[in-house]
Amino acid sequence: MTVRFASILAALASALLTLAGCGSSADAPPAACSTDKTWSGGDRGSSLMHPGGNCIECHSSGGEGPRYAIAGTVMNDSKDDTNCDGVSGVTVEITGANGQKITLTTNGAGNFFSSGSVPTPYTAKVISGGKTRAMSAAQTDLNCAGCHTAEGANGAPGRVFVP
Ligand code: HEC
Ligand code: HEC
Repeated sequence: MTVRFASILAALASALLTLAGCGSSADAPPAACSTDKTWSGGDRGSSLMHPGGNCIECHSSGGEGPRYAIAGTVMNDSKDDTNCDGVSGVTVEITGANGQKITLTTNGAGNFFSSGSVPTPYTAKVISGGKTRAMSAAQTDLNCAGCHTAEGANGAPGRVFVP
């Protein structure tokens, strides 16, 4: 009886956790985090929030966060979880179909974002310490986090991570 009650409570708690926030793992502490530094501020608005999270999707569905055309996080490892801080000071260079470039630098959580856009398809690379990692295929979606999850979505191998 007691056991059954406890398991019902546990199921309820996990259902509530899934409902909280607009991304299912938005508030979960990271299981894998190679930098050992994590975001624990929930949905408190900050440029350092939810590293690895889907900034564009959450901001446009919740209606409260700033609208970005380009956003993502450069992680330290390709498998780091959402809410694990990435790497600061990395250059992210995005080249639009017309050759126009947008160059961004990752902040203290590894996040980068811009409300400016480029014509697509575009290519992207990350540059750090004279080393480069380039996306060989051109893409049309500027929401990096839509594909570069820890598991990898839409064919992406995992996170955008430091070269
Ligand atoms: C799960 C939802 C969610 C995710 C994911 C998310 N945000 Fe937010 N963000 C919010 C909400 C909600 C606000 C508005 C909060 C407020 O007004 O206090 C916000 C506000 C902000 C602000 C404004 C802060 C200010 O001073 O007004 C910045 C900057 C920001 N987010 C950056 C990012 C970046 C960069 C990412 C991705 C790496 C991101 N957010 C991911 C929900 C999210
Ligand atoms: C629609 C899915 C998709 C989106 C959106 C996307 N990527 Fe990628 N990315 C991929 C795939 C697939 C690969 C692996 C094949 C390749 O290199 O083209 C990749 C590879 C990369 C690599 C090379 C990884 C390595 O290990 O060398 C970098 C860097 C990268 N992407 C950066 C970005 C950035 C920055 C953005 C956002 C501006 C972005 N990507 C948006 C799918 C995507």
